[in-house]
Amino acid sequence: MSIHILGTGSYAPEHVMTNHDLEKMVDTNDEWIRTRTGISERRIAAPDEATSDLATHAAREAIEASGLKPEDIDIILVATCSPDMFFPSTATLVQENIGAKNAFSMDLGAACSGFLYGLEVARSMLDGGRYHTALVIGAEKMSSLVNWEDRGTCILFGDGAGAAVLAFRPERAGGLGPCNLGSDGGLGDLLMIPAGGSRIPVTEQVLKDHSNCITMSGQEVFKHAVTNMTKTAKHLLAEAGWSPDDLSLVIPHQANRRILEAIRARVGVPEDNVFVNVDRYGNTSAASIGIALDEAVRSGRLKPGNKVMLLAFGAGFTWGGMLLEWSTPA
Ligand code: ACO
Repeated sequence: MSIHILGTGSYAPEHVMTNHDLEKMVDTNDEWIRTRTGISERRIAAPDEATSDLATHAAREAIEASGLKPEDIDIILVATCSPDMFFPSTATLVQENIGAKNAFSMDLGAACSGFLYGLEVARSMLDGGRYHTALVIGAEKMSSLVNWEDRGTCILFGDGAGAAVLAFRPERAGGLGPCNLGSDGGLGDLLMIPAGGSRIPVTEQVLKDHSNCITMSGQEVFKHAVTNMTKTAKHLLAEAGWSPDDLSLVIPHQANRRILEAIRARVGVPEDNVFVNVDRYGNTSAASIGIALDEAVRSGRLKPGNKVMLLAFGAGFTWGGMLLEWSTPA
């Protein structure tokens, strides 16, 4: 395990949208949202704030925490399903913003699993030996993809960004461990944005029926999320020879508190060892694991030697998990 996280960062927009704010917009109420999802509030980006702006804040924090300079970064991966535009990529916009002149940059699309996919792609490239450092960012302006008239989806999502700097440090103990990724394209229509791409470009009709926004079969997504994250968690523990009690912290994608609780109970992890911040941010898709990881680091919940599991699930469907041992800070 010679690839390590040297630093993390995160950013959440200033504006807080509470459940009570949503009560004024759609037919819902605070109690329903809290009991069904565990969400109390979420952050919403300003109209002039795009995904690359959120990503840039998180990236700067992560680079500072890593002790490296922007010029030291070889690879920038931005996982997002809400890019600033089709091209240039959000990653190249971030590269320019942070002055990472020696990096190559690209976006990665795996919806809510994007940050985890990004870690594994970066790790594989660093393992190859041609590159030495990578900046992996999950960043989303989900508020730009949501139909604000659909109470079934608009209550779930929020905006934000999380980032991590990875590097090859064979002299250190711990680091990124086994990873397991999966996808099932046959279930794509259960969670999708039907229009706005090359299949159905934006037309007046698309704008009228909001088909350029998120559509979801909530209960189906719920079931598949629990099944696949549980299976992945058990598979990884068996592969590593770890028991659930060995895990100091599980950092799952923050979709819904009930999903997290169902997985926790099935895998057999103590309640205190699952990181939860969905109450404050809602579902920030590809950003959620990065934000949670950064909060865990900065609040002192992750200590050198701690065994950690990351778990993700998202549209596609895509899913995955990764084990790591937190290493000594730079
Ligand atoms: N406020 C009040 N009532 C609502 C709301 C709302 N915001 N939304 C739906 N309802 C109503 C429905 O209309 C329905 O009413 P009816 O019984 O009169 O028809 C009732 O509440 C129950 O609706 P369900 O959809 O069955 O509610 P459920 O318990 O499944 O909860 C939820 C819905 C929260 C979306 C849940 O299915 C869920 O969290 N699914 C996972 C989805 C998810 O996390 N997606 C994120 C992307 S993927 C990922 O990140 C993993």
